[in-house]
Amino acid sequence: MKALVCEAYGPIANLAVKDIPSPVPGPKQLLIEVRSAAVNFPDALMVQGLYQVKPPLPFTPGAEIAGVVKAVGAEVKHYKPGDRVIALTSTGGFAEECLADMARAMPLPAGMDFDAGAALVLTYCTSLHGLKDCGHLKAGETLVVLGAAGGVGISAIEIGKAMGARVIAAASSDDKLALCRKVGADETVNYNTENLKDRINELTSGRGADVVYDPVGGPYTEPAVRALAWRGRLLIIGFAAGEIPKIPLNLALLKERSLVGVYWGDSVKHDPAGHLANLHQLHEWFAAGKIRPVVSERYPLARAAEAVASIANRQVKGKIVVVPGATMGPAGCVDALAE
Ligand SMILES: NC(=O)c1ccc[n+]([C@@H]2O[C@H](COP(=O)([O-])OP(=O)(O)OC[C@H]3O[C@@H](n4cnc5c(N)ncnc54)[C@H](OP(=O)(O)O)[C@@H]3O)[C@@H](O)[C@H]2O)c1
Repeated sequence: MKALVCEAYGPIANLAVKDIPSPVPGPKQLLIEVRSAAVNFPDALMVQGLYQVKPPLPFTPGAEIAGVVKAVGAEVKHYKPGDRVIALTSTGGFAEECLADMARAMPLPAGMDFDAGAALVLTYCTSLHGLKDCGHLKAGETLVVLGAAGGVGISAIEIGKAMGARVIAAASSDDKLALCRKVGADETVNYNTENLKDRINELTSGRGADVVYDPVGGPYTEPAVRALAWRGRLLIIGFAAGEIPKIPLNLALLKERSLVGVYWGDSVKHDPAGHLANLHQLHEWFAAGKIRPVVSERYPLARAAEAVASIANRQVKGKIVVVPGATMGPAGCVDALAE
């Protein structure tokens, strides 16, 4: 089968699609035919050796997929070949077939297509866990989302609205902000052309924001903290800008603000029941049309390295997915699907 392979940590351009043996499921694993695999920022960090998890080489990136079960291990009871599933794989997803532990798979909900299934779990679970469990966002509060047109950003806008907050989306271009409005943002800030702190204060009549959701870091975090209201909460999601900011702690003292870390992957291990409850909530919101992953581009497997590069280069709006069953047209884009 074909798979995107990382043979050495280094430039994304070194990734190549190769023929490798089909994986064989262990007793508690599923072998899944991948129909769609979401591209996430950590995929780009991982292949460069810049992520906290460093898989043994060679490996295939791709952390979340949706597809059809092809075979199951001897101890798997709740899945059978032909079932449509979503799975978190950590690695292995950018391939025609991949393995998933049965504990990290779930049925694809009715009415959800493979692209939405692949693009849902990591980003939306992170945002729900961050906003509800870590940020204690309440209806009527003001939420500012940085990097708001990115993968976790779009999910934070939609979930913030579903929780009853007023949402201010902040991003680097008017184009990206137009998408944020489309998915429900009430107000927008272009932090390339506007002063982030002043604009948030202006939009909140000087009071400041109750919660800031920050997947970006770099130069954006400190002005956002300065624009937090009394007892406001900064949710530390990630550092897509590449720099971990150093915040003067007097900013926390002065208004009893909280700086709160969010690590969804580990939170699932510490609170599996809470994670299940959050998944149910997301399925309910999906069925009610309140959340809807925005898949802006679909790449055939042959262009998977390009997909990983585009997320590292700040080019992606919403989510992009790799579709192994897609073929390339003359212009090099997806023009036909196998199914
Ligand atoms: N804590 C957790 O549990 C958790 C879970 C999932 C993801 N994350 C982290 O969250 C971050 C965002 O993930 P994502 O999937 O949403 O990524 P994404 O889709 O690429 O979005 C990241 C956004 O960051 C902004 N950005 C600013 N400077 C950038 C730069 N130099 N390079 C790339 N982007 C830059 C971009 O928005 P503008 O151009 O508008 O600034 C971009 O849309 C990553 O650091 C990821 O590791 C954390």
